[in-house]
Amino acid sequence: MSLADNACAVILAAGNGKRMVSGKAKIFCEILFKPLVCWVFENCKQTAIRNICLVCSNEGLHNLKQSLGNDIQYVVQKEKLGSAHAVAQADLFLRSCGKEDVLILLGDVPFVNAETIESAYREHKADNNEVTVIAAEKDKPFGYGRIVRSSGQIIIVEETEATNEQRAIKLVNSGAMWFNIQALLSVLGKIDNNNANGEYYITTAVNLLSRVGCFIAQGHIILGVNTNEQLFELNQIVREKIIAKHSRNGVEFLSVDGVVIGPDVDIGPGSLIFPNVILKGRCRIGERVRITSGSFIEESEIGAECEIKASYIQESTVGRRVQIGPFAHLRQRCRIADDVRIGNYVEIKNSEVGAETRIAHLGYVGDCNMGKQVNFGCGSIVVNYDGKQKHQTKIEDGAFIGCNSNLVAPVTIGKGAFVAAGSTISENLGEGDFAIARARQTTKAGYMNKKKGEDRT
Ligand code: UD1
Ligand code: CA
Repeated sequence: MSLADNACAVILAAGNGKRMVSGKAKIFCEILFKPLVCWVFENCKQTAIRNICLVCSNEGLHNLKQSLGNDIQYVVQKEKLGSAHAVAQADLFLRSCGKEDVLILLGDVPFVNAETIESAYREHKADNNEVTVIAAEKDKPFGYGRIVRSSGQIIIVEETEATNEQRAIKLVNSGAMWFNIQALLSVLGKIDNNNANGEYYITTAVNLLSRVGCFIAQGHIILGVNTNEQLFELNQIVREKIIAKHSRNGVEFLSVDGVVIGPDVDIGPGSLIFPNVILKGRCRIGERVRITSGSFIEESEIGAECEIKASYIQESTVGRRVQIGPFAHLRQRCRIADDVRIGNYVEIKNSEVGAETRIAHLGYVGDCNMGKQVNFGCGSIVVNYDGKQKHQTKIEDGAFIGCNSNLVAPVTIGKGAFVAAGSTISENLGEGDFAIARARQTTKAGYMNKKKGEDRT
């Protein structure tokens, strides 16, 4: 009875989200920076189900393939005639997958988790149901399909079709359900669209079957997104849950105002997060890290005991005890070793920086392999772009780059070499070399005093 052997899933994600004011396709609306459809997909992948079919619109297909990859099947629903019509588009998938049961998931209901899906499946098999609806209690059930039990039979009545008495029912359909595939196929063609919206509803399939079960899950799994207000509400709910989880794990928050932490972020105990800190995508933050206000960290790894002050870090890996900022920017696969200091107004792109190196103020380092114990002086620039192409720079261990220097790539600064302040270096330096590349100073003794005297006459 394993899920992998017996079950497949169909995710419905073709609707156009008419009620969203943003104009964006609903399934791409984000909760903590992750599109709704990715939440649904990842929940499904966390179960043992491996055969997944996604029903989508033609416009959504390209973006979906980019986000979800090619391990699943995509079927386009050309006309949006309702959720049953969407399932019918997966007819061939259902007939040819060789599985017994199918899990239907709605692309706009993001919190039906793997545990719920698996428990519902066990009940579905144990009770030998044709369909098992995953439901939950909702204090304000407006807009949801109500689970109506009458004389031992379970049916689902959509909001628009419900009587006043049925509208008072608080047990609602999450939209996720397990079907025996043969039973589903036997009723799919019989579903009509005689309802207020003129749509073919998948919930009608439930009403046409006789062995119907209802798995009651925890309240929050039901939350769906139909409006921008609900999207905001869900963002708030998950945001608070995630912060509470980190807090339980020993992360300290001065105040959670403006703190947004995505669902795929790990933070080590003893770390301190200031207000207005955003941690997005997959991030791993070590133990005892301090992240001060205004920091934005995305798809990055930060080692233990670092201090990140009001800085922007993307797709980068930072070692231990590194000091960054205030107002530094690391982007595109930077690899920063232990005990480095990156000070204010420093931008580093696609570069490696060795241990104990200092890039303390006002600099740009792009496409550079910088060794350890380098001193990269204030205002110095790695000139990596010649207007057509990017070039590499290598700065070896212990080199000293004086303030306000330009290193014109491609160029190598040898081990322990010294670049005098204000130099523009375009030729390689060997180990221990010294270079000065600036115009010699001309001093005219007393010239200004003399000039003042001349001006007066
Ligand atoms: C649906 C359920 C309702 C449940 C609620 C939970 C139906 C008929 N009703 O209502 O019982 O309580 O979800 O949130 O299913 N879709 C398509 N193609 C279409 C129409 C819809 O792919 O032609 C997809 C949408 O992208 C969406 C899902 O199906 O992800 C549900 O459609 P939606 O119109 O949002 O249904 P609800 O009215 O929310
Ligand atoms: Ca919906």
